[in-house]
Amino acid sequence: MNKYDLAMKNSLQTAEKELWGFEEFVESALDEGFFHELLTTTKPVGPTICYEDKEMINFASINILDLHQEKDVLNHFHAACGTYGLTTGGSRVTQGVCEAHLTMENELSHITGKERTISFASGLLANVGFINAMTSKFNFSPTCNINNSDTVFILDRDCHWSLWKAASHLEFGKQLFAFRHNKAEDLERVLAKVSQKHEKIVVVFESVYSADGSIAPIGQILDTCEKYNALSYVDDANGFLIYGPENRLFAEEFAAMRRATFVMVSFSKSIGLEGGAIAGPKEYIHAFEVLSGTSLFTAAIQPPTASTIHYIMKKLQNQPEIMDDYLKRSLALRQRLEEKNFMLSPVPSYITSVLIGNDEKAVHVYDAFLQAGLIVPMFRYPAVKPDHALIRIMLNAHHKAEHIDKLISVLEHLKFKYQF
Ligand SMILES: Cc1ncc(COP(=O)(O)O)c(C=O)c1O
Repeated sequence: MNKYDLAMKNSLQTAEKELWGFEEFVESALDEGFFHELLTTTKPVGPTICYEDKEMINFASINILDLHQEKDVLNHFHAACGTYGLTTGGSRVTQGVCEAHLTMENELSHITGKERTISFASGLLANVGFINAMTSKFNFSPTCNINNSDTVFILDRDCHWSLWKAASHLEFGKQLFAFRHNKAEDLERVLAKVSQKHEKIVVVFESVYSADGSIAPIGQILDTCEKYNALSYVDDANGFLIYGPENRLFAEEFAAMRRATFVMVSFSKSIGLEGGAIAGPKEYIHAFEVLSGTSLFTAAIQPPTASTIHYIMKKLQNQPEIMDDYLKRSLALRQRLEEKNFMLSPVPSYITSVLIGNDEKAVHVYDAFLQAGLIVPMFRYPAVKPDHALIRIMLNAHHKAEHIDKLISVLEHLKFKYQF
């Protein structure tokens, strides 16, 4: 390439870079602490995490029970690899459903009290598929058609990104509405208005919100849905097999969830593997096989994982002490933080966030944790309101006392240094 061609190529590349803006975005995002260069983990992730040879204490894992490192779970997984192989190899509509998935889905129907369940490769795909299916319009033949393109969605304002993203094709204020976070009376205000014009209404909310651990007033929200004949969809990604039994906190709210039309779960939290599912009335769920799009047009959970999800669901039901102990230790950690006068999220769920406030300060706090050998997730604008930055603390069942002591002593030191 001669000098002229090279200069042309470089200036074209510069113009192209400016047009798309990715390079500048990454530079400023790294600079301002919106995200960091990705680290490479080299061993199973749990209460600790290894970056090449460096081991750090990990408070960032959503895999709270760390069961994937336990012998019986690993043995089950290995055996299921032999029984089912590593892949479904194609969609369930064309090939049929793998026994491992069906057994797991039937168990989930039993747990949630619903007629039928469909699983997806992730919880995110379950959410996207649900909103696709509930707004779909197809005309396969004069007698085989469906038109739900007039469905109206009402979402809790703090719903997960996947739900807002999935609904983003709907016009806000016409087919898509929001109600104030966890406020059933605000939902009532929206429903009273929307139900005057629309019949097909779906209310979407979460059981446990992952940024601050707040818990929905599930019973009240469902009462409001029932009053206006709206269908309800509870994203229980963060509550599944954690809350529900009578001896645990929030039992009344979680008992009410059986009245929801649909319950969605993720298998990346309490189960600690990967996948998601929706349980609900059999006709709807059957139609979702095709209408969700996120089942038919993408790969499924790998069969050994599906089988191990079933194994862990059974284990957690047969040995409730595993979750009871976890929740007890998690509350004890929260109590220690309370005693040190940190500004904590108000609801005593297993997700505790500590308010840092100023966004810039939060970046320093995050970096200081890294320096001290701890990974603690930080949420700042745009994940939360500007200058309402927080760090989220989630205990791992296998954290040792010294891990927790270190977290608290570093946090105390940083509170003094940065005044939060
Ligand atoms: C409320 C909620 N819904 C859905 C998801 C997505 O679940 P998955 O990780 O299985 O895709 C998450 C995970 O962060 C979540 O917190």
